[in-house]
Amino acid sequence: MGKTMKFSRYAKRFDSGSGTVQLMEDLGAARRTRGPVYMLGGGNPAHIPEVQSIFQREMLRIASDSAAFGRMVGDYDVPQGNVEFTTALASLLNRKFGWPLGPENIAITNGSQSSFGLIFNSLAGEFDDGRFRRVLLPITPEYIGYSDVGIYDKPLFEGHRPTIAKLPGGFFKYHIDLDSLTIDDRYGAVCVSRPTNPTGNVVTDAELQELARRCREADVPLVIDGAYGLPFPGIIFTEAQPLWEPNIILCLSLSKLGLPGVRAGIIVARPEFIRLVRNANAINSLAPGRVGPELVAALLEDDSLLDLCNEIIRPYYKRKMEHVVDCVRSIMGDLPVWIHQPEGALFVWLWFENLPITSEQLYQKLKDRGVFILAGHHFYPGLDEDWPHKYQCIRVNYATDIAVVEQGLKIIADTVRESYRAT
Ligand SMILES: Cc1ncc(COP(=O)(O)O)c(C=O)c1O
Repeated sequence: MGKTMKFSRYAKRFDSGSGTVQLMEDLGAARRTRGPVYMLGGGNPAHIPEVQSIFQREMLRIASDSAAFGRMVGDYDVPQGNVEFTTALASLLNRKFGWPLGPENIAITNGSQSSFGLIFNSLAGEFDDGRFRRVLLPITPEYIGYSDVGIYDKPLFEGHRPTIAKLPGGFFKYHIDLDSLTIDDRYGAVCVSRPTNPTGNVVTDAELQELARRCREADVPLVIDGAYGLPFPGIIFTEAQPLWEPNIILCLSLSKLGLPGVRAGIIVARPEFIRLVRNANAINSLAPGRVGPELVAALLEDDSLLDLCNEIIRPYYKRKMEHVVDCVRSIMGDLPVWIHQPEGALFVWLWFENLPITSEQLYQKLKDRGVFILAGHHFYPGLDEDWPHKYQCIRVNYATDIAVVEQGLKIIADTVRESYRAT
């Protein structure tokens, strides 16, 4: 064995204690574990047969055309990303939402996760005026994947505690606490995921408009992470309008359509930001991948991708969501459990009020029993205050088989029940 390698301060960022690492490792660990496994963690979308067959058809069409196939796998794309795709998407966004966009407003990245590192470190962190600006997350719980992308020793995120509205039927909903939220030039950017991972919340149109107004006035860019949202994959079960204006950076992804393997993220922003992304792509990876964009471009041109979202993908997840809510009610009826109103994405967020153990302890106990969920405390990037609620929630991914979800929920219920009994 050689001596231990010495790592730079930069490498400390890649510490294995990161929640994002844990979640991606769990996906692999679950496949290796003996005995039954109930994979309700991770963010993998479902394999929906009708959707997969359309992507398969497109792949076969391209694969059987030597010139098209040769281009797809044999040529670097331009660093801003596939021109057919960016042109088709700009025209779709214009047609559907009236947004005045051209291909100069769109860039491709190697998955939206890799967009965030670039976006947040470009808009926040150290500035020439000596100031350190943070990214404000106006409503946490928020996506775990933002947490560790900062390149500085200082924390890059500031989380804001939401208000909780308890609703009839054992549901609750987080709202942005607008009364205590000040947006000013202490921040380099503000970011929300909509629908939100982990909660399935969809920040209301009014909340989003107000955020956008405050950001505009403070001249702070607003990042909207639409990985589950509009125009695709459109996993939203409530009435919600998408929003873009020059002060907004909209992040999209092909992943939750069912294509996480192709690693394609999309940034919609004003041209000066897109030029930055283009340059970063060239420097960091020469060019973004072109398999995903080429696979999907034709489906954007004739709106068939949107039909797929409306007719197959959204109803598919809505059915699953309704089923998982019914299961929670019937399996956990005796427990003090609140379900975050499931308005989108592919998760239910369960709040066990006054849970006597932490969500991390619950995660460990469940893992020992073959059930993989995500412990809630990971989803509070930049919210350091001691708030017991942070340790009382878990995220359950319901994209998998109904039987797996049902059995997993039974084990979760038993484990939670034991912990309440033990006190
Ligand atoms: C809210 C949210 N944003 C972005 C991503 C990143 O997705 P990808 O890098 O696959 O585009 C995810 C993945 O789970 C997510 O949940």
